[in-house]
Amino acid sequence: MRLTRESINQNVVRAQYAVRGELAVKSEEYRARLKKGDKTLPFEQIISANIGNPQQLDQKPITFFRQVLSLLENPQLLDKEDVLVESLGYKSDVIERARRLLKEVGSVGAYSASAGAPAIKESIAAFLERRDGFPADPSKIFLSAGASSGVNTLLNVISADVNTGVLIPIPQYPLYTATLSLLNAKAVPYYLDESKAWSTNLEIVKEAYEKGKAEGVDVRCIVIINPGNPTGASLAEKDIRDVIDFASQKNLVVMADEVYQTNVFIGEFHSFKSVLRKLQKENPGKYDGVELASLHSISKGMVGECGHRGGYFELVGFDSEVEAEIYKFVSIMLCAPVIGQCLVELMVNPPKEGEPSHELYQKEYSAIFNGLRDRATALHKAFEQMEGVECTEPQGSMYLFPTIKLPAKALDAAAAEGRKADEFYCLKMLEATGVCVVPGSGFGQKEGTLHFRTTFLAPGTEWISSIVKFHKEFLDKCR
Ligand SMILES: Cc1ncc(COP(=O)(O)O)c(C=O)c1O
Repeated sequence: MRLTRESINQNVVRAQYAVRGELAVKSEEYRARLKKGDKTLPFEQIISANIGNPQQLDQKPITFFRQVLSLLENPQLLDKEDVLVESLGYKSDVIERARRLLKEVGSVGAYSASAGAPAIKESIAAFLERRDGFPADPSKIFLSAGASSGVNTLLNVISADVNTGVLIPIPQYPLYTATLSLLNAKAVPYYLDESKAWSTNLEIVKEAYEKGKAEGVDVRCIVIINPGNPTGASLAEKDIRDVIDFASQKNLVVMADEVYQTNVFIGEFHSFKSVLRKLQKENPGKYDGVELASLHSISKGMVGECGHRGGYFELVGFDSEVEAEIYKFVSIMLCAPVIGQCLVELMVNPPKEGEPSHELYQKEYSAIFNGLRDRATALHKAFEQMEGVECTEPQGSMYLFPTIKLPAKALDAAAAEGRKADEFYCLKMLEATGVCVVPGSGFGQKEGTLHFRTTFLAPGTEWISSIVKFHKEFLDKCR
């Protein structure tokens, strides 16, 4: 018998991932129609503001990274150093880095060790020591195909059965709930506090934990996305201390998704690892049992190399037998893409001051950072003018997540189509403007509230004006 939707793994059928859901599919259909010269649509381009994919929009790759990569992919170029230097302007540190990485990994076309090339793990450990001011152990670092694959590994290992629960922030990046659905384990939601710039309120976390426990769920882990997606919120050190303390009391694994660690506009990024180490130093013995897994990626920040699929996670405080099972789990997938691993090395060890490529690297890095901040501010300003829209000041990551208040007529029209109201609104926005955003329901939101998430990656301001115009017309029609 052929497979049917009913006969396949129902965990797959149940999993939801709105970031690439119905609206994204529709936007791709529109894109194809525009490409074929269709003139019947009311817009001339599609703006994919649904996903944090910087190089799909206008972000250019950082020159140093791609120059090194070009030599890794085609080592024969290293026999023509004079051409590289004189005709192509490659600096000596590009060539040195490529030679060093090739010496370490052999060919980028070969599998590496399961958890990643040893020299790359050492380079990450050195970065973590510089970042946190505490030692890092390369043997506790696992390279992954993007942070997504790291999350998948960790949730697979943590989820023992249908009763396993993982505390998940709401709103959240839907990778977490989707992966838990695939594993037939339980997401235990805790709401972020929109009235306080989407901060993590420990009282709310405790309530969520107690509720889960009262329902018989074996709550084992708490996920923190810092800075947040979709909220952009950056946790204060005090909040991180509180989370770690709570996790320590309840024996929860802390999973710190820190992929936006360099996308911070307000305040400062504090890593969970550094705060845990500080707590351990201040309170000898008390926090020794805390299990922390922290994740990073080449997809975000100023790197934006989503398509190369690179990332890593670092484990602290895990039982060595559990580590061995994690090692086995990643080895079943052989290894993370080796080019992606090399990009991780370049991200954590970019050209230093005084080195030949440093000036250009710094210039490109700052231009991307400032461009993101300026666009976030412009978008936020536009939201402030829109009736019934409220939005926290941009704090970080790549997104804004405004609240929208829609008139009863709009809610009725959505219900008549069997759609959620935010989904209806976002669909109408796509149909009118070609701008694809994600309804708040795709990330989770408090009952009775409506939001949407948009990235601020797209260049120009025209698309922002088109959202403002659409919103006004949408409201006028529904009055
Ligand atoms: C919070 C968060 N974690 C993980 C990921 C996955 O990133 P990667 O491309 O590294 O798999 C994303 C992607 O948007 C994200 O927003």
